Amino acid sequence: MSSSVMSSPRLRSVIASLAILYLSIAEPPPRAEAARAFFVFGDSLVDNGNNNYLATTARADSPPYGIDYPTHRPTGRFSNGLNLPDIISEQMGSEATLPYLSPELTGEKLLVGANFASAGIGILNDTGVQFFTIIRMFQQFANFQQYQVRLSALIGAEQAQQRVNQALVLMTLGGNDFVNNYFLTPFSPRRRQFSIQAFSDYLISEFRNILRRLYDLGARRVLVTGTGPLGCVPAQLASQGSRNGECVPEPQRAAAIFNPALGRMLQGLNQELGSDVFVMANAFQMNMDFINNPQQFGFVTSKVACCGQGPYNGLGICNVLSNLCPNRNIYAFWDPFHPTERANRIIVRQIMTGSTDYMNPMNLSTIMALDSKI
Ligand SMILES: *[C@@H]1O[C@H](CO)[C@@H](O)[C@H](O)[C@H]1NC(C)=O
Ligand SMILES: *[C@@H]1O[C@H](CO)[C@@H](O)[C@H](O)[C@H]1NC(C)=O
Repeated sequence: MSSSVMSSPRLRSVIASLAILYLSIAEPPPRAEAARAFFVFGDSLVDNGNNNYLATTARADSPPYGIDYPTHRPTGRFSNGLNLPDIISEQMGSEATLPYLSPELTGEKLLVGANFASAGIGILNDTGVQFFTIIRMFQQFANFQQYQVRLSALIGAEQAQQRVNQALVLMTLGGNDFVNNYFLTPFSPRRRQFSIQAFSDYLISEFRNILRRLYDLGARRVLVTGTGPLGCVPAQLASQGSRNGECVPEPQRAAAIFNPALGRMLQGLNQELGSDVFVMANAFQMNMDFINNPQQFGFVTSKVACCGQGPYNGLGICNVLSNLCPNRNIYAFWDPFHPTERANRIIVRQIMTGSTDYMNPMNLSTIMALDSKI
């Protein structure tokens, strides 16, 4: 940058206000917000380790998973370090939620909330059957009910109810219904049964039931992430033979049909409930930003996974024998399906402060400011 540009008073004031914006984001949240509970539902993008306790092949409990986690050990998170809910907890000024199945989730720890997510699951019960015992949505909700019984025993029924009503909830669901069900094989039963459009319609109607049930269980502020760009993950690039890293059209089309329909469904639900309970987080766009312009975000590539093997490191699973990149901060994808911690941080930045194109009807910083006034 030339010194004449640096000394421009206009630019200096822009830099100063950016610095203030940055400081106000980095500032610890108010105490009331720190006390808010956080509940997490969904799949491997948000599982904090529940699958470690299950007889399933969908697990992230061996190195190099967790290589950049504070303990440098695998935890069951599908990340080199922190995952999406961890970073949201950080922003809320809370500790990370424990997996519901963790024996440590007792006493005061119950107040933090809980993570019910399970890698491999989808909206439909027949999604992820290849992973054996995983915790499907109806069971995640049964666990949530059980959690509420235990919370009531700790602080009383009325307080427990209030804590659940005032909690922040994250729901990340739907990607597996496509990649681990519909698109799993060229002749999958769901593909023979449905066109992409009809399958998406079916998923949306089942997803609506799931969210309605979540509301009935007490949730009043729910971030729903939608699916990422399913055709751009290294696993798809590798298995569908992408030549120059171009995203695979069919799964991309599925995401382009499903996500806007999800947004409309959430709007309809909010109208019916007369309140902005459900907030659409446009994970598709958040991911596309750094997939289209990796360099702008400090990544050397958005096509090749850090950990894996084969083309794009996209074949099989990340394990101790895989290729492993030395610097995880310059890769968008950690393994063939999941973002790095660094990419998750970019996503959470949009969740916190994104415009309505990213967060509809409002972003998390607005939600936190609104809800702390109650
Ligand atoms: C999934 O299975 C549960 C338990 O059997 C059932 O209650 C629920 O309706 C099923 N969901 C779908 C979408 O079929
Ligand atoms: C999102 O957050 C920013 C910064 O906190 C705020 O200025 C903006 O108005 C918010 N946008 C929406 C749509 O809530």
